[in-house]
Amino acid sequence: MARRSPPLKVKPDLKINFAGLEFANPVLVASGTFNYGEEMAKFYPLSKLGGIVTKSITKKPRPGHPFPRTYETKGGMLNAIGLANPGIEKFLSKKMPFLRTLGTRLVVNIAGSTVEEFVELAQRLSDVEGIDALEVNISCPNVKEGGLEFSATPQPAFRVLSAVRKATRLPLVAKLSPNTADIGAVARAAEEAGMEGVSLINTLVGMAVDLKTRRPILSNVTGGLSGPAVKPVALAMVYKVARQVKIPIMAIGGICNAADALEFMLGGATLVQIGTANFTDPLAAPRAVEGIEDFLKEKNIPSVGQLVGSLRTPAEEIDSSPKRPKLDELRVQT
Ligand SMILES: Cc1cc2nc3c(=O)[nH]c(=O)nc-3n(C[C@H](O)[C@H](O)[C@H](O)COP(=O)(O)O)c2cc1C
Repeated sequence: MARRSPPLKVKPDLKINFAGLEFANPVLVASGTFNYGEEMAKFYPLSKLGGIVTKSITKKPRPGHPFPRTYETKGGMLNAIGLANPGIEKFLSKKMPFLRTLGTRLVVNIAGSTVEEFVELAQRLSDVEGIDALEVNISCPNVKEGGLEFSATPQPAFRVLSAVRKATRLPLVAKLSPNTADIGAVARAAEEAGMEGVSLINTLVGMAVDLKTRRPILSNVTGGLSGPAVKPVALAMVYKVARQVKIPIMAIGGICNAADALEFMLGGATLVQIGTANFTDPLAAPRAVEGIEDFLKEKNIPSVGQLVGSLRTPAEEIDSSPKRPKLDELRVQT
């Protein structure tokens, strides 16, 4: 029988670098599932998180779609909130004073319906104290150019992202859509446009019908599917993108706990975001942080960064991969 190595004497290092920024740990909370942090701060100190991604901010306030705009499905939920938010000026005056006191990384998510709107938002936020990075939401089903999401194909993605890149000094993360034929091509366009990282996935387009009324359940007819139901799709996409770009990845999609987070890190994600799970368990994110630490102790791994991209794949796949996982560098004891 293989001998188990003794448990670590030192506390494992949860700190991790993403695009030149140090995060206290790899667990963030996803846009639209944590609002601007005020409600969740009643449950635990938000400094326990690696970071917060805000609800999408647009240029003007948006009331969002009429109700019903959420619906629980098997293993997940549908939402068509419609980017309800107070708009950039109210965000800066009413939400930022609280957000900058939290002692965790702050990523502000921006959304526009034209290239110019994205550029204006990026410029306005560029020198605001307390913002560490912008997540550029080119993947909301409500944000369309010529009837398509900006991230459905590489060209519109490149156009909007390269314009945003010129508008700010802040590190930029492009949030990608799963509703595309080739997410790898869109990720490569984001890298070429100068993004410091990509985050994926946003929600998958879905629909629910009320048989009694013979009507769609959501006022918007379709919505975005999220939660555990989308996890395998997200994991396959993160794995694919990690092989096609050199910039780091924030994984999103059905991540509920430490095991989920670790699977995505093995698949190539540097950071993870917890989304829908915040609704069912407000403590999901801090518990995931603790669970990652326990895993590292148990497996005698000194630093969480060692896990990134360390998935053991079949030999032929490793040999042909442009971004080979360095298995020999991984000191996981099994
Ligand atoms: C109710 C709700 C609202 C959301 N609002 C936004 C948003 O404003 N901007 C955005 O980029 N993503 C938004 N998302 C998408 C999430 O950030 C995340 O990408 C997606 O839900 C997949 O992760 P999950 O399965 O962990 O929830 C929203 C998701 C939900 C469930």
